[in-house]
Amino acid sequence: MTDLFEDKAAEWDARPLPAIISEGVGRALLEHVELTPDMQVMDFGAGTGLICCHVAPHVAKIYAVDISEAMLEQLAAKPELQGKVEPVCRDILEAALEEKVDLIISAMALHHVEHTDRLLKAFAQQLAPGGKLALADLDAEDGSFHPADIEGVYHAGFDRDELGALLEANGFEDVQFVTAAEVEKNGRHYPIFLLTATKR
Ligand SMILES: C[S@@+](CC[C@H](N)C(=O)[O-])C[C@H]1O[C@@H](n2cnc3c(N)ncnc32)[C@H](O)[C@@H]1O
Repeated sequence: MTDLFEDKAAEWDARPLPAIISEGVGRALLEHVELTPDMQVMDFGAGTGLICCHVAPHVAKIYAVDISEAMLEQLAAKPELQGKVEPVCRDILEAALEEKVDLIISAMALHHVEHTDRLLKAFAQQLAPGGKLALADLDAEDGSFHPADIEGVYHAGFDRDELGALLEANGFEDVQFVTAAEVEKNGRHYPIFLLTATKR
């Protein structure tokens, strides 16, 4: 599988947009999701670990799942994540983690997965009973956020009502959205939501 983030990984953390988004999403996560010291967490599309850095001090373990070896190499090199965060280079649509988790977090990775329905089913299977989701991504936009010729981007953001209905159809309840961040690019503004939901 081609690593679409190979050329971006080394300077990912120095980019202004991931920094702004991860700050906002990290803050919203700590505000809206109860984190406990015994929690097993999966960060889907963890990348270089920007979101893991916010959550790791409050939980037992994070499985940092990503299909980009280059992004996970950056994550694995962060001393503050040692011992708490386990990098897992795997497509969880093909093979689930061996352990069930209490919480799945994710930032800006959903739009890279073509079949959201399949992904939400995989999330539901990966969660322990009563487990929670906390997922952040772009609100529906006009397709201008990414360059037109970019590979591996399947969604121009997500409509909150449609995504909420899809979550409910896949076994989640108590779906709530907040705006976690807003970024400006080429004179346009793009809000980023954080949704929380509980497995029924
Ligand atoms: C825009 S980056 C976001 C990284 C990180 N969450 C952050 O906020 O900085 C998207 C990440 O999702 C990963 N990704 C894309 N498709 C994936 C898949 N099917 N399974 C796991 N990770 C995936 C990419 O490799 C990349 O690291």
